[in-house]
Amino acid sequence: MSAELAEQVRQRRTFAIISHPDAGKTTLTEKLLLFSGAIQIAGSVKARKATRHATSDWMEIEKQRGISVASSVMQMEYRGCTINLLDTPGHQDFSEDTYRVLTAVDAALMVIDAANGVEPQTRRLLQVCRARNTPILTFVNKMDREVQEPLALMDEIERELGMTVVPFTWPVGMAKFFGGVLDLRKDQMRVFSPGEDRVAGTEEIVDGIANPLLNERFGDVYQQAAGEIELVREAAPAFDEAEFLAGRQTPMFFGSAVNNFGVQEVLDALVDLAPPPGPRPAIQRTVAPDEPKFTGVVFKIQANMDPAHRDRIAFLRVASGQFSRGMNLKVVRSGKTLRPNTVVTFMSQKRELLDEAFAGDIIGIPNHGVLQLGDTLTEGEALQFTGLPFFAPELFRSVEVADPLKTKQLRAGLTQLGEEGAIQVFRPMAGSVLLLGAVGQLQFEVVAHRLEHEYGVKARIMPARYNVARWVTCEEADGGEKELKRFIDANSHRLALDAVDAPTLLLEYAGELRAIQENWPKIRFHALREHA
Ligand code: G4P
Repeated sequence: MSAELAEQVRQRRTFAIISHPDAGKTTLTEKLLLFSGAIQIAGSVKARKATRHATSDWMEIEKQRGISVASSVMQMEYRGCTINLLDTPGHQDFSEDTYRVLTAVDAALMVIDAANGVEPQTRRLLQVCRARNTPILTFVNKMDREVQEPLALMDEIERELGMTVVPFTWPVGMAKFFGGVLDLRKDQMRVFSPGEDRVAGTEEIVDGIANPLLNERFGDVYQQAAGEIELVREAAPAFDEAEFLAGRQTPMFFGSAVNNFGVQEVLDALVDLAPPPGPRPAIQRTVAPDEPKFTGVVFKIQANMDPAHRDRIAFLRVASGQFSRGMNLKVVRSGKTLRPNTVVTFMSQKRELLDEAFAGDIIGIPNHGVLQLGDTLTEGEALQFTGLPFFAPELFRSVEVADPLKTKQLRAGLTQLGEEGAIQVFRPMAGSVLLLGAVGQLQFEVVAHRLEHEYGVKARIMPARYNVARWVTCEEADGGEKELKRFIDANSHRLALDAVDAPTLLLEYAGELRAIQENWPKIRFHALREHA
């Protein structure tokens, strides 16, 4: 069994695509599914995105949530590997959700628009990956357009993102002179031909980067590319697996997703370079993926497609062992036992019932509020995985109901939305008005809309005077609980409890924080909380 399990783990690849909107994430996702055979015709992922775009009116959020549940996780088989691709929300107002998704992957594929280079959202997401040492593959897209020179792009990525870039392919020309890519490792050129219909294995290949035929055929652009490669070979270090796995070196590929060009190399790189699931840290110990017992962690909760039923799907990353349908799982936080019979996996846009899953896979467990973000599930062991981040909100609103008889529904609704991570809910220690905290403005709109449509509560969401939040703790050596209590008693007028009852300091100005820090040197103030 354990040899079989180890083999299953070795065949798993779990990754997310990160990019700035419009770089080509959706297009590339679709082409990866197409090239792996998971979908037969292009168009289905894009069609979903079109719906998303058309509904720029966020009050249409219902529909969108339905759509994104189905497309949140995609699984494909390629060259004997099971590849899990996790979608990340494109809009930066939902970046908290994205950060949590990134805790569930073992690698990331960064898509760069070759004309625009490194863009703000890419930079932010990269920071999160770097903080976790997530290995990153880079795909430079849209070479069929007028774009930046590849050397300049390479330099920009290195400078802006602080990684060493190792080109695996190099473009010959661009826009209407785009001739294809030179494959530096296979010593061949893959010739570009436009069009969406070409499938794997039908590209024209010319052997030998130095083949004189290439000069005859592509002339100036080939000579320029050959000259650039000389420079790159002198300046760039060789690919170093350890550096890549530590997130310090990124292999770079050039292509054009919309023309199916360069997609195969990316799929191959995922299999050949991206790591299988590794050990994951828990408070008690580190958990190896091929341990026989099942463990997993909830990194995302999403309301189900049918809001009338109010059930939710908890997305769980299998951290170790094997999941089989009908097995008993312990929710470590509450001590409750779950026996999920209708666990779903997500294959392209179809939702399918799942019989078994292995470390690295993502499973969806429908539940009615039994599971929360950050929950660890085991076969019985008391274990809590760490690393799921909650960020101190930067925007605050107070919330009241128009009809006081609905106060209970409001609280119930907000508790559930808080558990999903859609918003952070704070209960001030003094006073009874609830406070909402968000990282992006759109989160408030989504919450107001969902309160009304799912919980029948018309909520008044009003400006609040706070601008800064910090979770507060005190180390044992500094006085621990006692010192913390002293701080809380003295500051209860500006403290609140969050969804897991963690005390949080709420302030109007960043300047106040500095003053309080000086007065309370033993208290720690955190802008980031990890679920524990
Ligand atoms: P996103 O998910 O990262 O936001 O990007 P998406 O894939 O939707 O791509 C954004 C736009 O870039 C789309 O054009 C898409 O067709 C185009 N695109 C993607 N890859 C390439 C490429 O290799 N070359 C060129 N020239 N364009 C590419 P759109 O006009 O917004 O949509 P559509 O009308 O083409 O569907």
